[in-house]
Amino acid sequence: MDTEFEARLAAVADATERRLEALLAPAPLPGETLRPARFLDAMRYASLGGGKRLRPFLVVETARLFGVEGEAVVRVAAAVEMIHCYSLVHDDLPALDNDDLRRGRPTVHKAFDEATAILVGDALLTLAFDVLSDEATHADPAVRIALVHALARAAGVGGMVGGQVLDLEAEATTEPHTAEAVIRLQSMKTGALLHHAVEAGAILGRADAEARAALSAYGHALGAAFQVADDILDVVADEAALGKRAGKDAGRNKATLVAVLGLEAARERCDKLVAEAIAALGRLPAGSATGVLAEAARFVARRNS
Ligand code: IPE
Ligand code: IPE
Ligand code: MG
Ligand code: MG
Ligand code: MG
Repeated sequence: MDTEFEARLAAVADATERRLEALLAPAPLPGETLRPARFLDAMRYASLGGGKRLRPFLVVETARLFGVEGEAVVRVAAAVEMIHCYSLVHDDLPALDNDDLRRGRPTVHKAFDEATAILVGDALLTLAFDVLSDEATHADPAVRIALVHALARAAGVGGMVGGQVLDLEAEATTEPHTAEAVIRLQSMKTGALLHHAVEAGAILGRADAEARAALSAYGHALGAAFQVADDILDVVADEAALGKRAGKDAGRNKATLVAVLGLEAARERCDKLVAEAIAALGRLPAGSATGVLAEAARFVARRNS
């Protein structure tokens, strides 16, 4: 693997972990009454000590393209990761995918209980917006509002949550899945938040309209590639490396691109999307240091977890 990319991914994961630790500290914040101890443990279990931290990486590395770095950027990265962790906790619930393994450990509803898992998702979702709207995240209220607004759009009914709804509806249908429908639902359930991570970096970097458009194209292609790769890994990957159950999508009638196109065509589509993402970076001003973002797109397709 590209060593600069590997080092940057590890550094961002580390910074994100430390920031999440601090944000999930036991002491109540001004305006809070108390943070219930066992419940806070469940929030920490859901968000600390695991995951590739790809969304934080995209926030941090996109902002860095514009020379914007530091703890405030990591706060934004942590907020996006909280939304992601909440989505995983809820995705694994019996009413959704009913999974018992996540990031190499029992899922939150197994390690704790279902009510706790539902509320952990609620609390992480809410805390993400608390963090973004806090002055410590950015001195300019217009930037904070832009971040809040963009994340709400990406994560809600017309984005991630809506995509999860379509995923569950597709699973329950007896009609054959079409590639077009699968591509759209994946662009929502997974693509929207990955795209947002890049968008958040562009907002922090005060990118101009042209750079925003190029990065948006990069984010869309990378997001699409990411879920095709996830579908492929479900079929081919080793459960131990994956840290979650493998081989479950087919039996559940999940609407995946592997189911619709077959493994080989899904792989080809994934590679094509990676190339598209990298080509979009080429539309940024000459001299932009896009190397690690290009490598991130390659990583999405060749990862084994
Ligand atoms: C898994 O996301 C869920 C999907 C959106 C496909 P990741 O593969 O990024 O999960 P972690 O954060 O590394 O555990
Ligand atoms: C999950 O998609 C998407 C979200 C959590 C929003 P999957 O259901 O395919 O993710 P895994 O395979 O359980 O990680
Ligand atoms: Mg799911
Ligand atoms: Mg799932
Ligand atoms: Mg999956």
